[in-house]
Amino acid sequence: MIETTMRLNKALSWATEQLSESCDRPRYEAELLLAYHIDRDRVYFFTHDDPIDRVDEFKELVYRRASHEPYEYIVGHVSFYDIELTITDGVLIPRPETEILIDETSIIIERHNITKLIEIGVGSGAISIVLARKFPHLEIVATDINPTALELAKENIDNFGLSDRITLLQSNLMDRVKLNAQMVVSNPPYIAKDFQLDANVAEYEPHNALFGGDIGDEILIEIVKETKSRDIDWLVCEMGYNQRESMKRIFDDIGVDGYSFYKDLAKLDRGFVVKF
Ligand SMILES: C[S@@+](CC[C@H](N)C(=O)[O-])C[C@H]1O[C@@H](n2cnc3c(N)ncnc32)[C@H](O)[C@@H]1O
Repeated sequence: MIETTMRLNKALSWATEQLSESCDRPRYEAELLLAYHIDRDRVYFFTHDDPIDRVDEFKELVYRRASHEPYEYIVGHVSFYDIELTITDGVLIPRPETEILIDETSIIIERHNITKLIEIGVGSGAISIVLARKFPHLEIVATDINPTALELAKENIDNFGLSDRITLLQSNLMDRVKLNAQMVVSNPPYIAKDFQLDANVAEYEPHNALFGGDIGDEILIEIVKETKSRDIDWLVCEMGYNQRESMKRIFDDIGVDGYSFYKDLAKLDRGFVVKF
């Protein structure tokens, strides 16, 4: 039976139970959704037990999360690095491991005074926005094949007042890019076609942001070859934990000046830096 009134503590315990099968941390996720619904910080629950407004709307949020819809799509925003971005379904939710890609890229930008950069696969705009904020002299051209991603990236870029420094292009990889860049950065799709993803990813996130081909490294390899053929000095990419050997083979085959791999917080291989 649908209740039309509910106090905070009751709402929390009800939501926790609803989320117990779909979420690893049901109480925590219930708190996040309730905090979002009442537009308060989570600490408010410890000292208050008010009746909540719009109980049906709160229940709808919980049912969506119980069906594995990612929290970020439900609330429409995501924290990434030092910023908060708008996120909508149809666009990949930026991941914490991609913050390491930013740090690896930042080291090269600082050391080699990079001023022109291309991002392939801009998604929500997360990487380009953080880099543009960190490096005020950086000019960026960012591409994507997905018009929904480009629309959202534009909204996020405008919100940070960066539209004069980040140019968006609908393009396969760098096909339409004319910028004479010194560096390319990308978190491309790199998952193998038949890899079993969790329901919240597989059922909700855009597949053309996730799957890189039958093996998974196909787009990564194209990016490496194209960056070399354009005489661009540096490339930094995120990759899958099991792609070190195949990427190493490509670097050795085509010949590069040097390369290194970096790991994520779980100590898994997560990306590479190449100097051509
Ligand atoms: C893993 S997501 C990364 C999004 C964002 N940069 C981030 O890190 O959150 C990969 C992005 O690459 C885009 N993409 C896929 N194939 C592409 C291609 N051939 N050329 C350009 N972009 C592509 C997808 O639409 C998606 O937005």
